[in-house]
Amino acid sequence: MTDFDLVHDRLGTGSSKWSKYPADVLPMWVADMDFPAAPEIIEAITHRLKHPILGYGVAKDELRTAIVENLETKYQWTVAPEEIVFLPGVEPGFNMAMKAFLEPGDGITVQTPVYRPILSAPSHWGLMRRDAALTSGVRGWELELEPFKTELGKSKAFILCNPQNPTGKVFSREELTSMADACREQNVLVISDEIHCELLFDSRHHIPFASLSDDAAQRTITLMAASKTYNIAGLKTAFAIIKNRRMRETFSASRLGMVDSVNIIGLEATLAAYTQAGEWKTAMLRYLESNRDFLSDEINRRFPSINVIKAEGTFLAWLDCTALKLESDPQTYFLENGKVGFSAGSEFGPDYANFIRLNFACPRAILVEGLDRIERALKATNSRP
Ligand SMILES: Cc1ncc(COP(=O)(O)O)c(C=O)c1O
Repeated sequence: MTDFDLVHDRLGTGSSKWSKYPADVLPMWVADMDFPAAPEIIEAITHRLKHPILGYGVAKDELRTAIVENLETKYQWTVAPEEIVFLPGVEPGFNMAMKAFLEPGDGITVQTPVYRPILSAPSHWGLMRRDAALTSGVRGWELELEPFKTELGKSKAFILCNPQNPTGKVFSREELTSMADACREQNVLVISDEIHCELLFDSRHHIPFASLSDDAAQRTITLMAASKTYNIAGLKTAFAIIKNRRMRETFSASRLGMVDSVNIIGLEATLAAYTQAGEWKTAMLRYLESNRDFLSDEINRRFPSINVIKAEGTFLAWLDCTALKLESDPQTYFLENGKVGFSAGSEFGPDYANFIRLNFACPRAILVEGLDRIERALKATNSRP
């Protein structure tokens, strides 16, 4: 079994995360994990490589069946094998959906703060982005239904991100149902990015938006992948689930000669993830959850001016640094004074310049080092923690 405490040197491995900054900066930004993939996945890839021909790939029936079984077992969601469309990523998936179903000038509702490629995709297709902000309240991050409905009323589509990046919010059934009702009333297309769907804490259960009702199923393009949960994002394999046949055909036609077939090794890895890596996932989630708890306890104890709402899912912490009253934006500040690389809050929406996003999917020693670097940065400029 994987030792999640073990620190692996990723420098020189062509990792995007570990190449962005000079070697003396600790990278805690992009959403991949500093954990090795499950041994079962590495074994499956190694086995496939024993066959030395690596031509174009296609999903085997076995993989479609594994995904169908996985969705049924984990979410009690019944999907037919032909309803799955393989893609080289979730990001191409939501862009294809926008291109396929919307016209320049159409409105699309997004809930901010949100993952930057979701925020920027509407502008690629000449769409009018309608921001409906999540708010932080006593129960954590919350949906503000009325403003959401107002934006939806000016939209032809809604792109949901659940579990939510960067807040780590997991929408409740009640919230999802109220959003689904609003989508039915306004007759909008739903693009549901559920890439983080297996990364839930505190015994929460993921609810696919399309599983809420027949109506939701008919208007939703669901996007999923094994990539985040099993740390195989570099293998560029994801899939859409589209129940409505005509929508599926239109979506598939919008590959536009740009969105190619899927990585043959990624398909093998995805199959192994869903059929063999369950125990690894359970252990990994236990480790992640304890990292999440450790992180918020340490922040509350050492840096009371940083406001953290515990993530309900994902491996991302969304930290409000407003009360630190720093001289520059917190991402630049911690990079320059502490040599630690977070994601800048401004990437996730215009109102979040005082936030940073921290990735806690790393061995505990790296997390401790990241916290120490925050402290060092604050001490360097005599800022109150
Ligand atoms: C919410 C969300 N959607 C999509 C992606 C990117 O997915 P892919 O690499 O499959 O395009 C990420 C990666 O961080 C993400 O957090």
